[in-house]
Amino acid sequence: MLTAELQDITKDYFQPAIETATRVLDHISLAIAEDDTIAIMGPSGSGKTTLLNLLGTLDRPTSGKVFRDGISVEQMDEKKLAIVRNRFTGFIFQQHLLLPQLTVLENVLLPVLPVRDKLFKEEAGERALQLIERVGLKNFLYSYPARLSMGECQRAAVVRALINRPKLILADEPTGSLDARNAAMLADLLAELRDNYNYSLVIVTHDPEVARRMKIQYRLLNGKIQVNI
Ligand SMILES: Nc1ncnc2c1ncn2[C@@H]1O[C@H](COP(=O)(O)OP(=O)(O)OP(=O)(O)O)[C@@H](O)[C@H]1O
Ligand SMILES: [Mg+2]
Repeated sequence: MLTAELQDITKDYFQPAIETATRVLDHISLAIAEDDTIAIMGPSGSGKTTLLNLLGTLDRPTSGKVFRDGISVEQMDEKKLAIVRNRFTGFIFQQHLLLPQLTVLENVLLPVLPVRDKLFKEEAGERALQLIERVGLKNFLYSYPARLSMGECQRAAVVRALINRPKLILADEPTGSLDARNAAMLADLLAELRDNYNYSLVIVTHDPEVARRMKIQYRLLNGKIQVNI
């Protein structure tokens, strides 16, 4: 089964200043299989974030269909959508968005808070410790984000994105604030953790070194998507 799929999607944004709608995504189809790692490149304004928002069910298309695990997003009620976002999707952004008043451990456990399943919560606690160690932050478990470097914060954000074992990781320029070495390290980490955590990975990036580490590279341009070869 596909983790996510876009079928013949268009997305128009209405621009009040010129009283017209502009088409950002123009009949795009995209299939994301369970073991896919995908890079999406393209110039600023080409619709990369728009496309991630559709995959993450944060926004709806103007026309066309979005599927998550074979189910049309259109048919999901708010409760189901909340589960898809919180349990089945991990988001990583350019800025780590860790809360400054919480420790690293508390930050990575935030997505577990709304989960009711007690066993799942316990497992998530153990998973947090394992993952934090795996990404090299064991010594920072009880530190506040202000003490961490940008690269370390971003690795904590990766752990937070993985903590609920999502089926899909959506990363929007996750290495945009990092130097070349840390950027490559983070991309490798996201690709490697996939072996244990079995998510599909979609990463928006301007960095060819990051894109190169993904199995498939797409380019968005003028509303269309094409495989980058
Ligand atoms: N909520 C919105 N309302 C109106 N226009 C929007 C909205 N969100 C995005 N746009 C427009 O849609 C286009 C695509 O935006 P998007 O953020 O998806 O681009 P992007 O490829 O992620 O760019 P960047 O690389 O700069 O992040 C831009 O022209 C943007 O101004
Ligand atoms: Mg963007």
